[in-house]
Amino acid sequence: MIDDPDKEALSQKIRELKKKRNAVILAHNYQPGEVQDVADYIGDSLELSQKAAAVEEDVIVFCGVHFMAETASILSPQKTVLLPEIHAGCPMADMITAVELVAWKKNYPGRPVVGYVNTSAEVKAECDVCCTSSNAVNVVNSLESHEILFAPDKNLAAWVARRVSRIIIPWDGYCYVHNNILARDIREKKKMYPEAEIWVHPECRPDVIDLADKVLSTGKMVKEARLTETREIVVGTEAGMIYRLKHDNPAKNFYPAHDLAFCANMKKINLRKVYTALEQMIYRVQVPPEISRRARGAIEKMVKL
Ligand code: 13P
Ligand code: SF4
Repeated sequence: MIDDPDKEALSQKIRELKKKRNAVILAHNYQPGEVQDVADYIGDSLELSQKAAAVEEDVIVFCGVHFMAETASILSPQKTVLLPEIHAGCPMADMITAVELVAWKKNYPGRPVVGYVNTSAEVKAECDVCCTSSNAVNVVNSLESHEILFAPDKNLAAWVARRVSRIIIPWDGYCYVHNNILARDIREKKKMYPEAEIWVHPECRPDVIDLADKVLSTGKMVKEARLTETREIVVGTEAGMIYRLKHDNPAKNFYPAHDLAFCANMKKINLRKVYTALEQMIYRVQVPPEISRRARGAIEKMVKL
């Protein structure tokens, strides 16, 4: 987190500008602590899509990565959606393009495509339905087809495949942050904190998932942390999650499964950029109408489920 001596003054200015612009700040659970502190809502991908569709303000400042701001714009096309850092992308989302997806589908005629929300709007427009890590199993179970194409995360696909009686055909993508968490990291943390429960995100590798007590999306980690009696938890996901969990549960201890589990893109936004976004009304994220219409179909199917 950036140690800014003007943090309080900047937060105050952000609050004032927010009123003036009639804006709301949405932040993903992986955002730096100082951004979480100024947000109106913090959540996982699904919770933030639902919020984006429901908020009444004219302007949404989306503190996350590009595909998330695009999703907000697709669900609320009449609103101004701002991403405080235009280069905050998602390397996993970049692992599949719409052209690649169309070519892949041709090899599997008749099979529906489940697209993880971590994809561009163009890719979503080619999907039958979207999913997030918290609803992927339900989304797959809602489809009639026995064989399903799943893109782009092969780790999430493998986790879903174990929980449904369908054949999941995965694209070969992954999140480098979660893929870098190895089974040996988990074994090491188990030795260091023998009393701790191990929670990991479903974007982790299958052999990491095998060692976990619970496999949870970031939103489910937030809920489970409040409910559990356990006071020691090793968390296998991006580091911003630890800030959120500690903030909500000061009496419990959360340890990162991997000390360098940082998503560089999630950390590109800071308090200053949030301020500049509101002051200059930048960077506006918009999706061309035809792509937006087709992508919205896949996202709305998911949101309804
Ligand atoms: P969730 O917040 O939906 O668990 O997703 C994690 C993620 O990788 C977002 O980029
Ligand atoms: Fe993409 Fe992984 Fe970063 Fe999420 S944590 S934005 S999936 S690279």
